Amino acid sequence: MKKIYFKDLENYFDKEIEISGFVENIRNIKWVQFLVLRDSTGKVQVTIEKSDENNAEMVELVNNLTIESTIKVTGTLKKNENVRLRGMEFIPTKIEVTSESDAELPINIHDKDAQLLDQRLDYRWLDLRNEYNFNIFKIQSDMTRFMREFMYSKDFTEIHTPKLIGAASESGSEVFEVKYFDRKAYLAQSPQFYKQMAIASGYDKVFEVAPVFRAENSNTSRHTTEFTGFDVEFAYIDSYQDVMDFEEELLTYTLEKLHDKYNDLVKKLYNEEIVVPKNKFPRIKLSDLYDELEKRYDYKVEESEKNDLTTEGEKLAYRYAMDEFNSEFIFVTDFPKDKRAFYHMRKDDIPEGYDLIYKGVEITTGAEREHRYDVLVKQAKEKGLDKDVEFYLEFFKYGCPPHGGFGLGIDRLTMLILGISIKEAMLLFRGPNRLNP
Ligand code: 4AD
Ligand code: MG
Repeated sequence: MKKIYFKDLENYFDKEIEISGFVENIRNIKWVQFLVLRDSTGKVQVTIEKSDENNAEMVELVNNLTIESTIKVTGTLKKNENVRLRGMEFIPTKIEVTSESDAELPINIHDKDAQLLDQRLDYRWLDLRNEYNFNIFKIQSDMTRFMREFMYSKDFTEIHTPKLIGAASESGSEVFEVKYFDRKAYLAQSPQFYKQMAIASGYDKVFEVAPVFRAENSNTSRHTTEFTGFDVEFAYIDSYQDVMDFEEELLTYTLEKLHDKYNDLVKKLYNEEIVVPKNKFPRIKLSDLYDELEKRYDYKVEESEKNDLTTEGEKLAYRYAMDEFNSEFIFVTDFPKDKRAFYHMRKDDIPEGYDLIYKGVEITTGAEREHRYDVLVKQAKEKGLDKDVEFYLEFFKYGCPPHGGFGLGIDRLTMLILGISIKEAMLLFRGPNRLNP
C-alpha cells in the first residue's frame, strides 16, 4: 500500500485507509486511548474507544505499546472539531506494531535542553526526532537545492572530483593521511585543483558540492574535521571583483528563496530572522578594516596578527558592516600574500582574493587564480610547494583561460542562518573527539 503522508490527510476524510508512523505520545484514560502518530510531514491523533468490545484487541495492544515504536493503523479519518490537533481523528479497526521501541529512551526527545549536546549527539537518530533539530536539515536541504538551482540557471556544470589524492598540497591546512595499499594517500582538503583542471579542460563554469577534510585539532563552535564545501570556479573573468559579484548574487537568491519558504518557521524555532540582502555587500581592504575597527570600537590588533583577520576582527567586521551599511555580509580583500594560497593571482604583489564574512564568521575564501604557468610555478616555489603540486602545474601548460572562484562552507552557512552551533548544523558532526555514530 502506498504511504499516505500526514500533510495530505485532509484528502482522505471518511475513507478507509492505512496510516503509519512513530508513536509520539500515548494517553490512556478511563474510557479512551489517544495516540499521537508522527511522520516526516506532520502528526495525527488516533482515538480508540475502550467501551467498544470490537476494540478489545487494540486496547490490549496499546496497553503494552511503547513510545517511539512504529505502527501501521487501518481505519477511517473523521473530522472532529473537538480534537485540538488539526480538528481530525483517526478511528482504527486494526493496529500492527512494525517496530517496537525500548521503553526507556536514552535521551529526552522533546526537550532538547534536558541534556548536554554531546550526550544527545551519541544518540543522533533520536535527537533528530526533535522538531528543532529535524527542521535544520529540511531547511539545509532546500538551501543547497536553491543554490544548485541558481548555478544551473547560470549554465554551470556540476562536477564530482576525487577525495582520495596522491599528494598533500593546497595551503597550510593539515591533511589526513590514509593507508592506500602499499603507499600513502591523503583526503582532499579542497576540490581546488580539480575544479581548476575542469577549467583547463574547457568547461568554463563548474561547481561541486562535496565533503572537505581538514585535520585541524580545533574545538570551536565553527570548526569541524569534515564539512560540505560548495565550490565554484568559472572562466573568462576580468578580475576577482567578478567572483565577488557572482557570490553576492548566489547568496541573495538563496536567502530570498529561504526567506519566502521558511522565515516564519525559523523565527518560531530558532528565533532568527532570514534577512534578504537589499544592496551590494560592502567591500573593504584588510588594513582599512583594522583602521575602522580601531577608530570606531577601539580595537587594536596585535602587530603579529595584522596580516590576517582575527576571530575578534571577524566579529567586529560584522558590527562595522551593520553599523555602516546595514549589511550582514562584508567582503574583506587585500590580505598579504604570506597568508594566502600560492595559486591566488597577485597584482602589485597583493593577492587578488577575498574572505566573505557573514554575521561575524568567515564563510568563504575566493580569488582570481593565477593561470599563467610561469608565474604560477614561481609562486609555488616561493612557498616550497613546487614538487608537491607538480601535477597541478601541468594543467596550465597547454592553454587555460583566466578564471576564479570560491569555496563556501555549507555547514557554516546553515549555522549562521539559523543562529546555531556547527555541531547542530551538521547531520553528523565530525571533530577531533567525535567519529561516532
Ligand atoms: O577558506 P578555505 O580553506 O578555502 C579553500 O578551501 C579554498 N580552496 C577556496 C578557494 O576557492 N580559494 O575554505 C573555504 C570555506 C571557509 O570559508 C569555511 O566556510 C569553510 O570552507 N571551512 C570550514 N568549515 C567548517 N570547519 C572547518 N574546519 C572549515 N575550514 C573551512
Ligand atoms: Mg579561508
